[in-house]
Amino acid sequence: MKKSKHHQETEAVHAGADLKKKHGPVATPIYQTSTFEVTDNDEQLRVTPTDMFYTRYGNPTNTVVELRIAELERADAALLFASGMNAITTSILALVKSGDHIVAQRDIYGGAGKFFGQWLPKLGIETTFVDTTEYEQHAQAIRPNTKLLYLESPTNPTVRIVDLVKAAALAKKHKLISMIDSTFATPINQRPFEFGIDLVMHSGTKYFGGHSDLMAGIIAGRKDLIEKIHETRTTLGAVMDPHAAWLLLRGIKTLAVRVQRQNDNALRVAQYLAQHSKVRRVHYPFLEGHPQRAVAMEQMRGGGGMVSFEVEGSGGDARRLTESLRLFTLAPSLGGVDSLVSIPVLTSHAMISAEQRQKMGVTEQLIRLSVGIENADDLIADLEQALTVVNSPQHAHAG
Ligand SMILES: Cc1ncc(COP(=O)(O)O)c(C=O)c1O
Repeated sequence: MKKSKHHQETEAVHAGADLKKKHGPVATPIYQTSTFEVTDNDEQLRVTPTDMFYTRYGNPTNTVVELRIAELERADAALLFASGMNAITTSILALVKSGDHIVAQRDIYGGAGKFFGQWLPKLGIETTFVDTTEYEQHAQAIRPNTKLLYLESPTNPTVRIVDLVKAAALAKKHKLISMIDSTFATPINQRPFEFGIDLVMHSGTKYFGGHSDLMAGIIAGRKDLIEKIHETRTTLGAVMDPHAAWLLLRGIKTLAVRVQRQNDNALRVAQYLAQHSKVRRVHYPFLEGHPQRAVAMEQMRGGGGMVSFEVEGSGGDARRLTESLRLFTLAPSLGGVDSLVSIPVLTSHAMISAEQRQKMGVTEQLIRLSVGIENADDLIADLEQALTVVNSPQHAHAG
């Protein structure tokens, strides 16, 4: 038997760990470590600003993902966070201070709306909410202390489209930082940085991860702003674990093929719903009749995988329909390979006031679909059978 140099307790910690002589791995290794060894204290000083010092500052696995996302967005740089909300809150805290003012669209993810409306005021930072597509209103809301223009496109859940050229021009004219939540689009369908938007945010939990199995937040954009946000990320500790970063990288490898398939499936589903007598309204950027279809076609390469629609009936009808679907799983979130369904008033927009929701067109009858990569005919057949539970229009208030 081979004689060991060390005691078993020591071997349990160190044995077999030297991989230096092995051939390079094809998959990026996970640097599942919180800290990094240095040879001496001079080296310690040299590595402090790098991703080989302490994982709250940076980690080589995360760096690979950040570089890849910056490439996909055609941005200067990118950063990862533990969740989408973590990316939003950390970035905004990095960019504004007490006494500053923000102009934000009304149609934004409910959690972001809550942060602007209920948390930032505690720090003396006020937000004015404006109609998403009324740029005159945006301009009128700008004050001398306004620092940030916060956008989301396509919006959650009614898929309104922001005119990126107009929004970027407005921000530049008034020297505001522009930031957009581009989660619904992904860089496969839209690259806001190329239109002059300073910062692009994603809930990487959604399309980037793509399999409903991780939490992730992403910010990509201008180098000087990313540096500021990086410093705040380190202070607030808003970092992604390397194992999650590795899973995210694996998801990103199939992002383009998944999104292209989801674009095709979602358009088919939207077209099917639009001709159904029990459907009052369908929201999909590339569907005939969408109010910003021309802008969407101009600035997006695909309409995305998100479709929302109102049933011709009551809130009860919407609930019954969503519970009757078999292939669409009743669950919040979106962007994965599996199709999901949810009712925004009960999920993504439950935390905002009924008055705000009404202004956004988020009704009790509104159903949101995250269309996956399954066969479109099967998805449509599932919707067809589920729509039979909706009462006919003359009984619309029975449920
Ligand atoms: C458009 C959008 N932005 C941001 C978020 C927040 O992301 P996370 O849940 O990863 O914190 C979500 C989550 O649903 C979202 O849909």
